[in-house]
Parts: sequence; structure tokens; C-alpha cells
Amino acid sequence: MKKNIVILGTQWGDEGKGKIVDCLTSDGSYVVRYQGGHNAGHTLVVNEKKIILHLVPSGLLHNNVTGIIANGVVVSPLELIKEIKMLEENNVFTRKRLFISNSAPLILQYHIEMDIAREKRLGINLLGTTGRGIGPAYEDKIARRALRVGDLKNEKVLSSRLEKIVEYYNHQLVSFYKHKSIDYKIILKDLLPIIDIIHDMIQDTTYILHNAIKDNKKIIFEGAQGTFLDIDHGSYPYVTSSNSTIGGVMTGTGIGPKNLDYIIGVTKAYSTRVGYGPFPTELFDDIDKHFFKKGHEFGSTTGRKRRTGWLDAVSLCRAVKINSLSSLCITKLDVLDGLKEIKICTSYQNSQTLNPTSFLENNDWDSIKPVYETYPGWTKKTLGINKIKDLPYEARNYINRIEEITQVPIDIISTGPDRSDIILVRDLFYMK
Ligand code: GDP
Ligand code: IMO
Ligand code: MG
Repeated sequence: MKKNIVILGTQWGDEGKGKIVDCLTSDGSYVVRYQGGHNAGHTLVVNEKKIILHLVPSGLLHNNVTGIIANGVVVSPLELIKEIKMLEENNVFTRKRLFISNSAPLILQYHIEMDIAREKRLGINLLGTTGRGIGPAYEDKIARRALRVGDLKNEKVLSSRLEKIVEYYNHQLVSFYKHKSIDYKIILKDLLPIIDIIHDMIQDTTYILHNAIKDNKKIIFEGAQGTFLDIDHGSYPYVTSSNSTIGGVMTGTGIGPKNLDYIIGVTKAYSTRVGYGPFPTELFDDIDKHFFKKGHEFGSTTGRKRRTGWLDAVSLCRAVKINSLSSLCITKLDVLDGLKEIKICTSYQNSQTLNPTSFLENNDWDSIKPVYETYPGWTKKTLGINKIKDLPYEARNYINRIEEITQVPIDIISTGPDRSDIILVRDLFYMK
């Protein structure tokens, strides 16, 4: 039985992870966010109602599920409270079933101002961050000066440390970036009412998770971002500031690898990327328009248009290895409906090295030209199909070819945005 399952992205984020987490968390599991922050935007559609979560784990729409925001996540208390309220307005209540790690670093206003000021200063070389303060917050963690969620419990210490940190940031913001300064008293004033609300949620989440494991509970670990946005394994410097690959689960929760039973990589049936950086299969033609329009490819966090392209199986094979994937979940298959032909990038031309994906490390992505295999498309709608046998032959062929290239099975196929638009090829919880 596969109890503890990791669900993470194999591309550049927005693969549809949130929907899959929601689908697999239906029966009383724990669901854990372990890295990233509110740069994530995970979309859930239940009975045509859309909810976008940035910080709260996606499985929480199921009333019997317990959510954990673990130590690897950078937490904006303001964003958290907004999300808790938004959920309450939608009759989803988090009391006694959402816990936040003591050790998670906080994102406060100075991180956001710094993120914005840095991007501005980079000019045309900007990274295209989400402007949510993610990079500066992780910098504080590594520099050992971060305020952490647990610090919210002691107002006096919080106030004096906040004053010092804001002084440090104001010096850089004003003198170097010519940006506006920040008043720590305003940050404190905004924080105090929030602390009252979240006080009891602040816990040792590692302990909670170890107990859940002891009690044989199912745990879903919900990745944010995707493999090639990882700080170590992504297209540096066009990456986020956390480990969105498998290692992030362990460092971000305090759970060891022996407790992970299954690792699913979520892969869009094509590719998208939001923000700047290399994208070998990027398209600028009518196919891009098709993906954009049919796939509604707008960022869930910033509303920016996502760049689109064909499926890149070369980097996907790398993602399989980096994350030790047990299987793949292919999402948005329905977006390919109606295309005459469909392409998969199976190699790169002009790659100077033995390792074709080394462009990710060497910054020589401009010289990379994708080489494609072409397959016939299908005209029949796949939207909402629940059984693999009901898919058009050409769609099954496409799925089979991805399995063949990556050498991992495809366990789940998503055929639409709604929770019910899904093909479970194998029952992950009950299979041996
Ligand atoms: P995440 O960040 O990986 O959770 O993905 P996002 O929520 O940012 O982006 C995925 C988008 O695709 C959302 O708008 C989802 O509602 C939508 N989506 C997810 N799965 C499918 C699918 O199989 N078909 C279609 N058409 N849309 C999907
Ligand atoms: P989910 O979890 C897609 C991208 C940003 C930018 C880069 C760095 O919804 O898949 P950051 O604000 O993290 O410093 O920005 O990373 N990015 C994402 N792209 N999906 C995400 O999350 C992302 N989170 C960050 O666009 O290019
Ligand atoms: Mg997203």
C-alpha cells in the first residue's frame, strides 16, 4: 500500500499539481506544503467553482483532511490570513486542522519591497519573479537572521528583532536601491491581530507528522513550483529560491526518505513557463495561441501570460532521475484536442556535450535547438473522460510514447480542470 505520496512538478511549475493533490486527498489524509511560499498558485475546481490556493495545502477542501505548512515553507502571515478568510467565505474551515511549523521563516513587508527593488534595478535582465518576497526571505533563512513563525509567540522579542532587521533592510533599500523606507512599527501593528488568530496553529509540525506516520495515516506532500525552477537543479539564475525537487520534502518537513512510499511527477501534456529564462521548446506561432486560449495559460498568482511550447521529453527524463519518480501524472491532455499533429522534443541539436540537458547548468541554452517526433492529433474531445479505454487511439498512443521515452508508468491522466475530470490508471492508495 502506498501511504505517503509526494506530488511535485516536473517542468516550470503550473503543471496542475493542486488539482491532483485535491483529487488524491479525498479520504482523511494529511496534506503538507514543504517548500516555496505564496509565489505558488494552485487551482482547484470543484463543481465548476474555482479556488486558488497560494499557501494553504490543496487537500484542505476535504473537511476531514489535516493541513500542514511545514518548516521549509516561507510564510507570509498576511497572505495566510487572507487565504483562511477566503476559505471561510467558501465554507471551508481550518480551525484545528491547519498547523504551521514553528520553524518556518516569515515573509514580511521588507522582503517584498526588496524583491521589487531588485527586479527594478536589474532592468531588462530581470528574472520575472512573482514579487512576493520569496528570494529575500530564503536569503534571511540561510543568513541565519530570519524571523520565524515561532517568533510570533513572543511579542517583546518579535518587536526588538523586527526593529533591528528593518534597520538592516532600510539601509539597503534607501541607500542602494533608492527605494522607500519601511517602518517596523507598522509591520508589528499589522501582525498583532493575526497572531491572535493563528496562535494555536503554530506547532512542531515534524512531531505531528511523525505521529501521523506512527498512526499509519496517509500523507500527501504537495510540491510547489517545478523541477526546473529548483534553486540547485533548475535553469539558474531563472529559478525560485527553494528546492522544488525531491530533497525539499525531507529538509522541508523533517521526514526521512524511508517514509516516502511513492513519488509522482506532474507533467503538463505540453510545456509552459511564466517569467524569464530558458525554454527550449517555446513556440511563438498558432500552436502557442491554441495552448494559451484552450489551456487558459495565465499565471494563477500574477495573472501574467504563460509562455507555451511542446512537451520537452529531454528535460522530463532528467526530472524523472532527479526526483526518483515512481510514476507520472499527465495533465491537460484535453488541451491537445483538435490539433492536427502533436510534437514531443526527444533530443537537442547542437548540444556540444554528452549530457544534452547540461545547458541548464552552462547557460548555453541559446544554442539549443529541439528535435521533434511528430504524432497525429485527434479530433474527438477528451475533456472529462474518466476511463483510459475511452480516449481516442491517438491520445493513448501519445501517452504510451511518453511512458516509453521516460521509462516510468503514467498513473494518472487529467482531462479537464474539474476534480472529476480524471483517469486513475491505478489506485495509488491500495495498490501493492
Ligand atoms: P499548479 O500550480 O501546478 O497547481 O497549477 P495551476 O493551478 O497554476 O495551473 C494549472 C491550470 O490548469 C489551472 O487553471 C487548472 O484549473 C487547470 N487544469 C488542471 N488540470 C487540467 C486539465 O487536465 N485540463 C484543463 N483544461 N485544465 C486543467
Ligand atoms: P506553482 O506552485 C510557475 C517563477 C516566477 C519566476 C521564478 C522566480 O504555482 O507551480 P519567485 O517569485 O519564486 O522568486 O520567482 O519562478 N515561479 C513560478 N512559476 N509556477 C509557480 O508556482 C511559480 N513560483 C515561482 O514566475 O520566473
Ligand atoms: Mg500554479
